[in-house]
Amino acid sequence: MNGTRNREFSGRGNSVVRVSGRLVFGVLLAGMLAACLGGAIRSARAASPAKTTMDGVYTDDQAKRGKDQYTTTCSGCHMEDLSGSGQALPLAGDAFTQVWDGQTVADLLNLIQTTMPQDKPGTLTPEASLDVISYLLQFNQFPAGKEELKNDPDALKNIIITRKAAPEGH
Ligand code: HEC
Repeated sequence: MNGTRNREFSGRGNSVVRVSGRLVFGVLLAGMLAACLGGAIRSARAASPAKTTMDGVYTDDQAKRGKDQYTTTCSGCHMEDLSGSGQALPLAGDAFTQVWDGQTVADLLNLIQTTMPQDKPGTLTPEASLDVISYLLQFNQFPAGKEELKNDPDALKNIIITRKAAPEGH
């Protein structure tokens, strides 16, 4: 999230003061129109097609590979049923989906790549981690789709982890 949208225009038009009521009104109106237009243009430009995990962003095959990988590298700490144990946090249910809600698959990949498996971080290839992520998504009942999660950082940054459907165009 960059949060820059719609910020610049607050306060515009304030410096044109009290020449005459009508003039000010006109200028304000023009300013508001410009602000609307600017906002529309900006959001059109920002509308790189953000997806969410409700859009079917992995395949069943990928999740199957991920399950094997998970069983050998993760289940020792996070348990077969993803419920976690001790310090190893659960990777399923509300505990997981609430923590990750609003973050992206790129964020999750980054965490796994840099800190997991905790006893041997950095030993999984990004592809193997993405397989595991597919399995986590499947286990958490996000729908499968026709395309695998691929190691394309820009695309992964555009996949938001959430149960809510995308706000538009879906
Ligand atoms: C040696 C034990 C161990 C292994 C193996 C392990 N983890 Fe973890 N994992 C942990 C611990 C402990 C934490 C909590 C870390 C913290 O609180 O900073 C954690 C946290 C996580 C989190 C963050 C959960 C959250 O809600 O923020 C994810 C995701 C994760 N592990 C994924 C994996 C994956 C995927 C694998 C297999 C590739 C794996 N872990 C293997 C011990 C392990």
